[in-house]
Order: sequence, then structure tokens, then C-alpha cells
Amino acid sequence: MKKTTYLLLLLVLYSGCHSLRKSEQLSFNTFNAVSQKKVIVQNGAVVSAHPLASKVGLEMLKMGGNAFDAAIATQLALAVVYPNAGNLGGGGFMVARLANGDLKTLDYREKAPIKGFKEMYIDENGKAHTELSQNGHLSAGVPGTVAGLFATLPYARLPMKQLIQPAIELAEKGFLITAAEARSLNSLKKTFEKYNTVRPVFVKAGPWSDGDTLIQKDLAATLKRIRDNGQKGFYEGETARLIVEEMKRGHGIIGYKDLKNYKAIFREPHVFTYKGYSIVGMPMPSSGGLLLNQMMKMVEDRPLPEYGFLSPRSVQLMIEAERRAFADRAEYMGDADFYPVPVSMLSNESYLQDRMKDFVPGKAGSSKITQPGLSPVKESEETTHLSIIDRDGNAVSITTTLNNSYGSKTVVGGAGFFLNDEMDDFSIKPGVPNMFGAVGGEANAIMPGKRMLSSMTPTIVLKDNAPFLVLGTPGGTTIPTSVFQTIIDIIDFDMNTEDAVNQPKFHHQWLPDRVDIEKNFPQSLRASLEKMGYTLQERESIGRTEVIKVLYKTALNENFKGQFFEAVADNRGNDAAEGY
Ligand code: GLY
Repeated sequence: MKKTTYLLLLLVLYSGCHSLRKSEQLSFNTFNAVSQKKVIVQNGAVVSAHPLASKVGLEMLKMGGNAFDAAIATQLALAVVYPNAGNLGGGGFMVARLANGDLKTLDYREKAPIKGFKEMYIDENGKAHTELSQNGHLSAGVPGTVAGLFATLPYARLPMKQLIQPAIELAEKGFLITAAEARSLNSLKKTFEKYNTVRPVFVKAGPWSDGDTLIQKDLAATLKRIRDNGQKGFYEGETARLIVEEMKRGHGIIGYKDLKNYKAIFREPHVFTYKGYSIVGMPMPSSGGLLLNQMMKMVEDRPLPEYGFLSPRSVQLMIEAERRAFADRAEYMGDADFYPVPVSMLSNESYLQDRMKDFVPGKAGSSKITQPGLSPVKESEETTHLSIIDRDGNAVSITTTLNNSYGSKTVVGGAGFFLNDEMDDFSIKPGVPNMFGAVGGEANAIMPGKRMLSSMTPTIVLKDNAPFLVLGTPGGTTIPTSVFQTIIDIIDFDMNTEDAVNQPKFHHQWLPDRVDIEKNFPQSLRASLEKMGYTLQERESIGRTEVIKVLYKTALNENFKGQFFEAVADNRGNDAAEGY
């Protein structure tokens, strides 16, 4: 080999190694998380519940990854920096649109363990013990998130080793917690002590303060096992051993077989049209796609734009659509692998028009119980949503959860992650409301291996077959109603994205028969609804909606060419939009 060729080869090799090393370092300061609420960009955008997680997703896009790379890395980062809902020990749903136009929905919802059974939370006197379905070891379903990440990987471009590295760094070196995060950890100190067999890092001698560094060594070690051994690094080997040992110490029932057999499943997307748009949602075991379909079709033929945003007429109409959809949820919806959910009937247009036959403008409807044994459904609101898009046209909408804030409150000893309390999303006893007051019957009863019904509504709206909106929100049963209202605000009321995200939301879920409203819900509207016969209840904020809207050049000004992504993060939390 000639000397110059040899030198050239060395140079190429060196620059290759150099760029690899560089690509593994994060370009942003993990100790400086500033929340950006809106970006308008051309190459790709990420919106999530935490600024560091959104930055990690952006980093992957900049390193040549696509929306799927960003989705995997953002979820892993959320598992570290947003432990109240980001997770390894929970589950979620992904709705995706590939650059080639294909639509995918991925179900990585938790499952009831093999030892689970219908009356597992009911004592000999017939009393349902929600403290067991909502806290501690017995409330945990078999986690699905890690299987979901690996099922997503074939659509990504970068190796898992690179996608997981930011999460490992954030866990190992730590990150600064905010005042709100410190308050939340402090308020749960006693609860964490109660439900843990090994003292977790989230409990410390003194109180947490704004600006403290949260370092999670056990979690970093779990992430490294996943990096080195793939899915088996979680569902088998040391992590599985730690989970099963934790179960033994806390009288839980998840076993090795539950973990080894867990599979994420690609399902047929739930797609419907609304005023010329195609709406792509999650099918069972999430009620989200079908509920959204029902609510939107129940109002489609009414002149909403003429009624106007937050007018008594439009709000009443939407409340009544919400009431009817949630009544159907309680009666018919559950894991379709175990129960024959009549999806075609429930989404049939004449059925839905029929459902609205008894709607009386100006008069509150009623929530009669149509079937004995149905009871209000209550679901935890501490879920989290991420919306991502890239310049090739891949769009990813993911909602993931531990159910309650910090799930079961139980951290797997030595593994550093919270287990979910998703078992509470089953109808643990017909007639007994879950933590969201939502009711369910036989369709959502516990069976071994069954997935519990969810309300998560990750959604993509297509216009002329191209992505128009990528959206979703946390919020338990308020999720489908928040997504419903956000889409109506944009399509029918022609509202800008920030207002559609941040303007007050309302919620009705059939039972309890009342309308939940946010604090800034207009007074005159309250009075009008009360006059119609509605009971209103003011509550904390509803959802944290993350929206990416695709703008075309005419939406900006003529000097710009092509499409732009307007990514908006909800003001209700520390949510952040990033893009480039
Ligand atoms: N745990 C909230 C949901 O799945 O809807």
C-alpha cells in the first residue's frame, strides 16, 4: 500500500471513530432544562412532558434518527426524568404513520398476571379492596413498555445502544429536580415507605428541594442490562429475578413466566373520517380510538362552527356526545382478545345518530343505568403523552403510563423503577368505581393474561393522506374528551394550536352525572349550563395536551417554502416542545 493511501485510510478511520464518540455525547446541558412551549421548525419536532426528554428526542433526530428513534429515546429518558408517569414498569400505546403512508398501532399495554382472577380484590364479604388494586405489589400488571420499545426498533435507524445512552447518562449522573417535583416526592415520602420493601432513591432523610440532583444508579444498571441484552435484559435474567424477588417480598403475583411471555402486539388501527379528515386512533384494549370516533360522529352533522367555541350550544352538544360514548364504554368495551367488543356496531353512523335521538338542545340529558352491574369508571390521570414528527413524514403519537402518579408506589428493589398499578383499570367489581369514577362490567373483568381497558388516545389526523395533527394527552378518562375538544377546536372553530391546547376543557363521562370543568371555565357559560340542568364541578387542570400541527407555506408567509411543524406543549405542566 502506498504511504499516501495508508495515511488517507488512517484519516478516514480516525474521523469515523471520532464522529462515533461525538455522536454518543449529548449536545445539551442535562442540568439546564428550560421548557420551550412552542417551536415552528422544518426538520422534525418532539413534544413531551419534560424538557430533558424532548431534548433527548431532538438529539436523536439531529443524529440522523427518524421519529421512531426519537420516540424510543424520549420514552427512555422520560422513564428517568419523569418517574411519576414515564416508565419501564408500565405500558402504553403507539399510533404511527410511516413515511410511506402505512399506518401502525402498537399495543404494549400491561397484562393481568397468570395468577390474576376476576375476584382477586374482593373479600369473602363481597367488599372490593381498591387500596390493593391501586397501591403496592398486587396492583401491578405485567409491564409492557420495554417490549414496546423493541417492537418499535425495526422502524428506527439508530441502534438501541445509542438510543438508550442519554437515559443511562441521566440516571447515572442525575438531573436537577424542580420545585414541583420536590414537592411531589416530599408529599409521597410516607407512601413510598409504606409500599416499598427496599428503600428507594426517591426517599431521602431530609426533604427534597428545588435544584437537588436525582441520581438513579439502580435504574442506570437496569438500562445497561437492556442495552447489553435487549428485551431479555428486562424480561429475563437479572431484572426478571429482581422483579420476582420484589413480588415475593411484597406478596405480589407477577412471575417469571408472565415476564418471559409478554409480547407487544401490532393491531389494526381504528380509522374513521371527520369532515374530510382521516382520524387514526388506537383500537381495543384502548377505548380511546372508538370513543373519539363515537363523539366526533355524534356531532359531525351539527353546525358547530356556527355555534362557536365555548358557546352554551356547542358545549352542551359535546357534553351529551361524551355522556353517550362513555355509557357505551362501560357496557361494551374491554380487551377484544378476550371479549367480543361490538366495534362495528358502536361506530356505525346510523347507530350513533340514533344515540343522539333523545338529545334535547338546552336541556341536560340523563345517565340512566341501562344494565345492572355497571358502575362509574375512575382512572388515574398520571399518564404522559409524546408527539413526534420527522421531515420524511414519519409521525408518532404515544401515550404511556404507570396509571397513578408513580404507579403502585413500589420500586423494584435493586432495579430502580416503579411498577404500575394498572390492575385498577380493570373493572375490579361491577358497580365499584375505579379511581376515576368510571364504571365497567363483564367486558373489562379481570382474566389471566388479559389487558385492562384504557382511555389513552394517541391520535394522528391526516389531511389528504398526509399528517396534519399528531396529538394526545394524559388524564385518565378525560383523555378522549380532551383529544375530542382539541380536534374540534382546530377543525371546527379554526382555532390556533396554542389556544386549542390551553383554553379551558370540560369533561363528562356518563357516571357520575356531572360536568367537570377547569377553573378558568367562563362564568356566564357555567350559569347557562346550570340553567339547562347540569351539575358542574370545578377541578384541577384537565390533561396536558401535546400537539404537532403541520403547516403549509401559505399558513406562514410566501417567503417560506414547503411544510413546517408547529409543535405546542401544554402550559398546564412543565411540558416542552423541541425541534430544528
Ligand atoms: N391508566 C390510564 C389509562 O390507561 O387510561
